[in-house]
Amino acid sequence: MGRCILKFAHVIALCVFSCLVKVGRAQTSNATTDPSEARSLNSIFSKWGISADQTQWNKSGELCSGRAIDSSTTIEDTAYNPFIKCDCSYNNKTTCHITALKVYALDVISEIPQELWTLTYLTNFRKLGQNYLTGSLPPDIGNLTRMQYMSIGINALSGELPKQLGNLTQLIVLSFGSNNFSGTLPSELGKLLKLEQLYMDSSGISGPIPPTIASLKNLVTVWASDTELTGSIPDFIGNWSKLQTLRFQGNSFEGPIPSSFSNLTSLTELRISGLSNGSSSLEVIRNMKSLTILELRNNKMSGSIPPNIGEFRNLTQLDLSFNNISGHILGSIFNLSSLSSLFLGNNKLSGTLPQQKSSSLNNILSRSGDIANCSNFHPRACSNFHPRACSNFHPHEGFSSSGQNYFFLLFALMINDLLT
Ligand SMILES: *[C@@H]1O[C@H](CO)[C@@H](O)[C@H](O)[C@H]1NC(C)=O
Ligand SMILES: *[C@@H]1O[C@H](CO)[C@@H](O)[C@H](O)[C@H]1NC(C)=O
Ligand SMILES: *[C@@H]1O[C@H](CO)[C@@H](O)[C@H](O)[C@H]1NC(C)=O
Ligand SMILES: *[C@@H]1O[C@H](CO)[C@@H](O)[C@H](O)[C@H]1NC(C)=O
Ligand SMILES: *[C@@H]1O[C@H](CO)[C@@H](O)[C@H](O)[C@H]1NC(C)=O
Ligand SMILES: *[C@@H]1O[C@H](CO)[C@@H](O)[C@H](O)[C@H]1NC(C)=O
Ligand SMILES: *[C@@H]1O[C@H](CO)[C@@H](O)[C@H](O)[C@H]1NC(C)=O
Ligand SMILES: *[C@@H]1O[C@H](CO)[C@@H](O)[C@H](O)[C@H]1NC(C)=O
Ligand SMILES: *[C@@H]1O[C@H](CO)[C@@H](O)[C@H](O)[C@H]1NC(C)=O
Ligand SMILES: *[C@@H]1O[C@H](CO)[C@@H](O)[C@H](O)[C@H]1NC(C)=O
Ligand SMILES: *[C@@H]1O[C@H](CO)[C@@H](O)[C@H](O)[C@H]1NC(C)=O
Ligand SMILES: *[C@@H]1O[C@H](CO)[C@@H](O)[C@H](O)[C@H]1NC(C)=O
Repeated sequence: MGRCILKFAHVIALCVFSCLVKVGRAQTSNATTDPSEARSLNSIFSKWGISADQTQWNKSGELCSGRAIDSSTTIEDTAYNPFIKCDCSYNNKTTCHITALKVYALDVISEIPQELWTLTYLTNFRKLGQNYLTGSLPPDIGNLTRMQYMSIGINALSGELPKQLGNLTQLIVLSFGSNNFSGTLPSELGKLLKLEQLYMDSSGISGPIPPTIASLKNLVTVWASDTELTGSIPDFIGNWSKLQTLRFQGNSFEGPIPSSFSNLTSLTELRISGLSNGSSSLEVIRNMKSLTILELRNNKMSGSIPPNIGEFRNLTQLDLSFNNISGHILGSIFNLSSLSSLFLGNNKLSGTLPQQKSSSLNNILSRSGDIANCSNFHPRACSNFHPRACSNFHPHEGFSSSGQNYFFLLFALMINDLLT
């Protein structure tokens, strides 16, 4: 047995060794960077006031060298920034093209130089985020047709999104959130059939969601909170059967939440808030048993909490506050072992809080004025807690300042005070 493992280790060692030799060879190959790409990248970096760490790549002025062509280092590796990756297999392994670019959180304050849109072999600029890039995206962005991962989020880009984004049909990830764009979503985005992740929260985008977007059936993650998206929430989202995360908080959408949403059984995170007219039924969530986060606050929702809520075993946050939900507060909610935050305030729920609750449940906001926060209570007191003990609770006394929930609760309280 021991010998067998030894032998196995030997084989692995040999394998690792031969791989290293291969990498070594790759690094000494004679392939050189496409000269026009080299000019473009050098110009972009010079305009941005950054340069390669020449101990890592751009050794002796050759961009595609060192870690840039080393298959054991990925563009994601945080030790390399700014960074590029190259593919040197072109022209019988004599030409390298730049395939990935990272300029992540380097405080670049500048427009995007036109030269960037000449790097047509790029598949990955997942990491252009967290700078202060200004100006608009030109139609030339549509020339980067090999692009798969594009992230320009957290910058100060403005203007309308060019319809040529629809030419980037290989895109798997598109992220342009936290920018200062204007105008609507181009209907051409409906051509991005491979798209799995779309991040556009706080992007400045407004107007209705174009019907063409219906074809994006591979979407798994959609963040679109804090935008000015208007109109009704499209029915067709109920056809995005792979959807796991949907964030639609703080838009100008009209209700209701379409009944087609009841088919979205892969959802683990659903956040919709602030829907104007149109009463939605809570019935849509009945089969979403994989949810870990469910936030449906202030949506004019009616109906009662589904009786099977006790089957939502992975639920950690449940916020149904500021709706028109009726019926009894179900005891099974308080048995959910993963649940840590529960907000049911400002509804038409009846009944009393149960005598017992799961030990994870530390933040509770129930009927208007009935605020219970057990995070400061003794675990013993908590496991057998009395609703009345918590209802005389003063915001400035009891809250532990444990992160987000503190602010969240405080905010909810303020709203309560305003309404009453
Ligand atoms: C690289 O170029 C040198 C000189 O031009 C040549 O001797 C060598 O064989 C080349 N190596 C490869 C891997 O093509
Ligand atoms: C690469 O090195 C050359 C020669 O030192 C330099 O002129 C060029 O600006 C460098 N490019 C980058 C992107 O750092
Ligand atoms: C590719 O390069 C190899 C050796 O470097 C050479 O033998 C071969 O003829 C080349 N092929 C073409 C199509 O140029
Ligand atoms: C993009 O492609 C168009 C059409 O081929 C061309 O006219 C334009 O110069 C290209 N843009 C850049 C920045 O290379
Ligand atoms: C790019 O998109 C525009 C507008 O959608 C379209 O007219 C054009 O044909 C597309 N170009 C390519 C090369 O696909
Ligand atoms: C965003 O763009 C608007 C014009 O569309 C401009 O007035 C505003 O100053 C910009 N905001 C930032 C933070 O750049
Ligand atoms: C959902 O997809 C089905 C099958 O592709 C299609 O018939 C139906 O019209 C779609 N529903 C919506 C609302 O787009
Ligand atoms: C859910 O999907 C099925 C199968 O695609 C479809 O027949 C049904 O109408 C959908 N339900 C709703 C409420 O859209
Ligand atoms: C929602 O309200 C707006 C005005 O507030 C109205 O124009 C629109 O018709 C309403 N929509 C529905 C579905 O009731
Ligand atoms: C709950 O989470 C666990 C662990 O992530 C997972 O294996 C399980 O499938 C989830 N349950 C549901 C109903 O999604
Ligand atoms: C609230 O729900 C009740 C039924 O429980 C319904 O009669 C009433 O119209 C709803 N109110 C609003 C504003 O939707
Ligand atoms: C909650 O769990 C306790 C202990 O497992 C059990 O006795 C009780 O019936 C449960 N309550 C509900 C409403 O599921």
